[in-house]
Amino acid sequence: MLSIPLAPISLAPIPTAYPGGVTDQRINPSILSADFVNLQSELEAIASADLVHVDVMDNHFVPNLTMGPPIVERIQAVSPIPLDVHLMISDADRWAPGYAELGAYSVTFHAEAAAEPVKLARRLREIGARAGIALKPGTDPEPYLEILPEFDQVLVMTVEPGFGGQSFMADMMPKLRRFAEAKRASGLDLWLQVDGGISVDTIGIAAEAGADTFVAGSAVYGGVPEERIADLRTAAAAHRHA
Ligand code: DX5
Ligand code: ZN
Repeated sequence: MLSIPLAPISLAPIPTAYPGGVTDQRINPSILSADFVNLQSELEAIASADLVHVDVMDNHFVPNLTMGPPIVERIQAVSPIPLDVHLMISDADRWAPGYAELGAYSVTFHAEAAAEPVKLARRLREIGARAGIALKPGTDPEPYLEILPEFDQVLVMTVEPGFGGQSFMADMMPKLRRFAEAKRASGLDLWLQVDGGISVDTIGIAAEAGADTFVAGSAVYGGVPEERIADLRTAAAAHRHA
């Protein structure tokens, strides 16, 4: 009698990176602090993180210049984890959709750089990316509370955008709490991201105020990335938002 072979047991590893996520708190290393000449190995070094934070700067919206679509396209091709693109560029309405078209998992543009943020967010979602809106330290959160349903992520900058290695602005926590409150009241599935000066010493402050998605550049690449990512996870988990 013929025996029907059983389907082989899948030996595929359980994914440790997002999608699926490690926990409901995400650690997104910023490659702004990586060695730009060795991006492929620098990306492999952060495979245990959730998403890779890619800072695009145009030397106009911010006084620094990093990369544009051709390099982001290569990062997208070789990265072991999905891309969290942070656009610090003027005229986001015109340029942001191109990053979604490259396959970025998330595209965040600055509120101060978009003429029609709702229209742009809809376009990003239509292409298939998560849509994010970022606020500089001096930007009032109030006008943006009513358009939160159009977004998947809010980025509260905890430094002036432009450079890595700056000090965390704890005075941004009321703004973060404001968004956390609006998120809770609306029941929206919204990620609250912080970017700038995040380390094992400051991540807990941001987590307590409501952040669930943490960008860290110098704190990750200033040591052994895998260890630094693990330390940041532990520190964030100890200070969950109540
Ligand atoms: C700053 C960038 C950040 C930067 C953070 O404008 O948006 O993503 O890489 O760097 P650290 O973590 O060193 O403050
Ligand atoms: Zn950033």
